[in-house]
Amino acid sequence: MAMQVRIERFAEADIAAVQAIDAQVYARPWSAALLADDIVKDNRHHLVARHGDGRVMGHASVMVLGDEGHISTVAVDPVHQRRGIARRLVLALCQIGMAQNLSLLTLEVRASNRAAQRLYSSFGFAPVGVRPRYYEPDREDALILTAHDIASADFAARLERQSSAIAVLDQASESDPNNSGHAHD
Ligand SMILES: CC(C)(COP(=O)(O)OP(=O)(O)OC[C@H]1O[C@@H](n2cnc3c(N)ncnc32)[C@H](O)[C@@H]1OP(=O)(O)O)[C@@H](O)C(=O)NCCC(=O)NCCS
Repeated sequence: MAMQVRIERFAEADIAAVQAIDAQVYARPWSAALLADDIVKDNRHHLVARHGDGRVMGHASVMVLGDEGHISTVAVDPVHQRRGIARRLVLALCQIGMAQNLSLLTLEVRASNRAAQRLYSSFGFAPVGVRPRYYEPDREDALILTAHDIASADFAARLERQSSAIAVLDQASESDPNNSGHAHD
């Protein structure tokens, strides 16, 4: 069975699975109460990437304030990383930003987090500033990354290229009989 990935709204029943992912990838994971709050607020769009068998592989959220979107979390289960799951999630958040005619999308990322920076830069996010000693408990600086051009044809073309990259991954997955999505279970 090829690995199938569905991007869906985060449901209350997903909270435990998302907490289990966050506990592995964040020094300060959100509490169940914070997650529950994020999925009911009207100005939040919190998504999960779900395997065909229903398992949650990752999640991501954007909070809309006025005409700006703030990406507050993107996390993928370590056993499913480097399979384009975050690319799918960030693409879906950017599509929401476009559909809502937002003027910009912004986020903070650890200065040392090159993996996430590469991911965001492929969507056109660029550094616009630093929040010194932003992260607890180690007081690492945050880079502020912003995509300013989301109403532009360039941004739409970038999203098209991301969709194509995902389609290639899907095809590779379909043609690989060993790729069940359970490789690391
Ligand atoms: C960052 C993170 C979300 C990436 O998730 P992922 O599903 O593995 O990412 P993808 O497979 O979609 O990768 C997309 C691109 O991001 C970059 N990337 C992702 N992981 C990378 C890594 N370990 N090293 C270098 N580049 C990486 C690459 O450019 C990659 O494209 P490629 O595979 O064609 O080279 C994941 O590593 C994670 O959950 N990290 C911990 C939480 C975190 O740092 N979140 C971001 C907070 S701002």
